[in-house]
Amino acid sequence: MRAFVCGLTLLPVQENIHDSGMSVRRLDQLLSNLGYCSRREVRDWLKAGRIAIAGKTADDPGSKPSPAAVRVDGEPLDHPEGLLLLLNKPLGLTCSHDLREAPLVYDLLPPRWRERNPLVTSVGRLDKETSGLLLLTDRTELVHRLTSPKHKVPKIYHATLDRDLPAELAEVFASGTLRLEGEPEPCAPAILRPLGPRMAEVTLIEGKYHQVRRMFAAAAGAAVLALHRVSFGPLTLCDLAPGCYRELTIEELGL
Ligand code: URA
Repeated sequence: MRAFVCGLTLLPVQENIHDSGMSVRRLDQLLSNLGYCSRREVRDWLKAGRIAIAGKTADDPGSKPSPAAVRVDGEPLDHPEGLLLLLNKPLGLTCSHDLREAPLVYDLLPPRWRERNPLVTSVGRLDKETSGLLLLTDRTELVHRLTSPKHKVPKIYHATLDRDLPAELAEVFASGTLRLEGEPEPCAPAILRPLGPRMAEVTLIEGKYHQVRRMFAAAAGAAVLALHRVSFGPLTLCDLAPGCYRELTIEELGL
């Protein structure tokens, strides 16, 4: 079952995700990787009879059960096959695991998901002062697949600028020659579509650090006052409110 989640509300929608590709793990490792407790604590949970495998109370932390057969306090495991989430990132949250940069986008997730290994991480980053569509996953192969410029996944942003757009800006963005300070390669061709005198839609197929802001600064000396990502490949936010997320199927990524 997929779900829209916002604050504490959980609204069911359609099916769940995909194959895991995850290897067979010891029970104690499986539970600690899914964020339940430490491997040492699994022994206490076993002694307390909280864990069952195929309907029988489990006692061996070294057993290697099928995750689908495991129950904790009578409940199936929490997403043993991995997490893939689409979040509407609000302004003011950082895409980092460093608590010194809090508040973090991961603060929006249930505490158990924040304890998973591999970590749930963002697919690329949005700046603290950028809002909009952000993918989160603990499936490391997906992060690489979706962020590699080789795969040319288009990302669309809406930007509000501090001045009127110069007439020739779309041509400069599309040229493939725009250089950003400190970058060895020029930006790949990008599409700029004016939405108003000081508003534009920008489509990028790469994700350099602060790329949209730096492109406007380099090409027009313009500052971006507001930036919002509206889509990532085939995905859009639809009616997902800021701070809310929903689970995605792998098929929705259109890979
Ligand atoms: N470009 C930026 O400048 N910031 C973002 O967050 C994303 C793209």
